[in-house]
Amino acid sequence: MKVLVIGGGGREHAIVWKIAQSEKVDKIYCAPGNAGIEEYAECVDIGVMEFDRLTDFAERKGVDLTVVGPDDPLAAGIVDAFEAKGLRVFGPRAAAAQIEASKAFSKDLMEKYHIPTAAHKTFDKAADAMEYLKTARFPIVLKADGLALGKGVLICKDMQEAQAGVRTIMEDKKFGSAGNRMVIETFMTGREVSVLCFCDGTHILPMTSAQDHKRAGDGDTGLNTGGMGTFSPSPFYTDAIARFCEEHIYQPTMDAMKAEGRAFKGVLFVGLMLTEDGPMVLEYNARFGDPETQVVLPRMENDIIDVFEACIDGTLDQIRLKFADNAAVCVVLASEGYPESYEKGRPVQGLDTFKRKDGFYCFHAGSRKEGGQILTNGGRVFGVTALGKDLRSARENAYKATEWVRFDNKYMRHDIGKAIDEI
Ligand code: GLY
Repeated sequence: MKVLVIGGGGREHAIVWKIAQSEKVDKIYCAPGNAGIEEYAECVDIGVMEFDRLTDFAERKGVDLTVVGPDDPLAAGIVDAFEAKGLRVFGPRAAAAQIEASKAFSKDLMEKYHIPTAAHKTFDKAADAMEYLKTARFPIVLKADGLALGKGVLICKDMQEAQAGVRTIMEDKKFGSAGNRMVIETFMTGREVSVLCFCDGTHILPMTSAQDHKRAGDGDTGLNTGGMGTFSPSPFYTDAIARFCEEHIYQPTMDAMKAEGRAFKGVLFVGLMLTEDGPMVLEYNARFGDPETQVVLPRMENDIIDVFEACIDGTLDQIRLKFADNAAVCVVLASEGYPESYEKGRPVQGLDTFKRKDGFYCFHAGSRKEGGQILTNGGRVFGVTALGKDLRSARENAYKATEWVRFDNKYMRHDIGKAIDEI
C-alpha cells in the first residue's frame, strides 16, 4: 500500500520510521517532510495547510492511507477535506480536534462530564478576566484559548504577573487570535505524565506512558518550549493510576465526545497531572505528542498500519497494543537561543553513526539538505533517542549518542530523565 504522512518534524520522522517497518507498505510519501524523513519517504514540497494540493496529490498517486501529524491542519479540517473526496485518512475531524484547538471547549467538556481537572473560568473580555483575578488565589494558570505552539500557557505567581499575563494574551495578542478568549484555571501541583491513546470514535487504547521536559533549561528553568526531551515509560504512572485513568478519564472522554456529536478518531494525547487528589487532566491534544512519539513508537511492537486501520474502521476493540519491556529516552538537540532567536544553516556531522547502531535513532525535527550536506533548519533540530533495558541505561545511551552529533551552536538539556533518580 501507499501511505502519505503530513508534517515535517521529529514526530513525523518517528511516525514515518514506524510505518516503514510495516510489510504492508510499499511506498511512503511525506509532505513536506525533512532531511531525515527522506531516508524512508519521498518528500513532497506541499505545505500542511494546502488541502487542495494534498488531496489532489493523494488522488493522483493512488495513496491508500494518509496520516496527519500536526495540530493546525487537523483543527482546520484536513480530515474532513480528505473524507469529502473519499480518501482514507487517520486523524480527528475538525469538530473533534476542537478538544485541542479550544481550551474553553475542552474545559467545559470535562466539567459537564465530570472528568477530573482543575476548576476554570472562560473569558471573552480582558476587563472581565481582570475583575475575576481580584478574587483569585495564586499561583494561577492563564491559557490562551486557541492553538499557540504549546506556548500559550502562563503560570502566574501573583496578581501583578497575572494582570500582565491577561494583557499579554488578550490585549497584546502575543499568541495571535488564540488569545481572543482565555481560560483561567486553578494551579495544580504534581508530576506530569503524557499518555497518547489510539481512538476509533468509540473505543480508546492507551499507549505506554511518557514524560516531557517543557522548559528550555536544566532544572526546569527558562522559557517554555515545544519539548526538550522525553522518557518512557513513566515510573510514576503505576498500574493503579492507569486503571483510574481508564475508568475516569479516557473512556469518559471518548463517551463525552461521542455524546456531543464529535466522535474522536485518531490519537488523543492526554496530558495528566498526578496530584495528591488523584490524576487530573492538564490538557488534551488531538494528535501524537512531540517529542513523546519519539520514545513511544520505538517501544511499540504492533504493526502501526493495523492500528491506524482499526481506528478508521471502528474496530480498535480487536487490537491488543504491545510495548517492549524496555525503556527509551529522547534528548532534543536544539540551536542555541531556542525558543527565542537562533541561527540556522549550520552543517551537521556524525549522523551516519546511528545507521550502524541498533536501538539508537536520530529523528530530525528541523533540518534540510543542501548539496548532500545536512544543515540545521530550526530551533529544535534533532531528537536523539536510545533504548535501554531500563530507564537508567536508556538515559546513558541517549546522552552517549548526543555526542555523536556535531554542529556549531548545539544546545541541549543535561537532565532529561533525572526524575527517575528519585525512585
Ligand atoms: N510534548 C507536548 C506536545 O506535543 O504538545
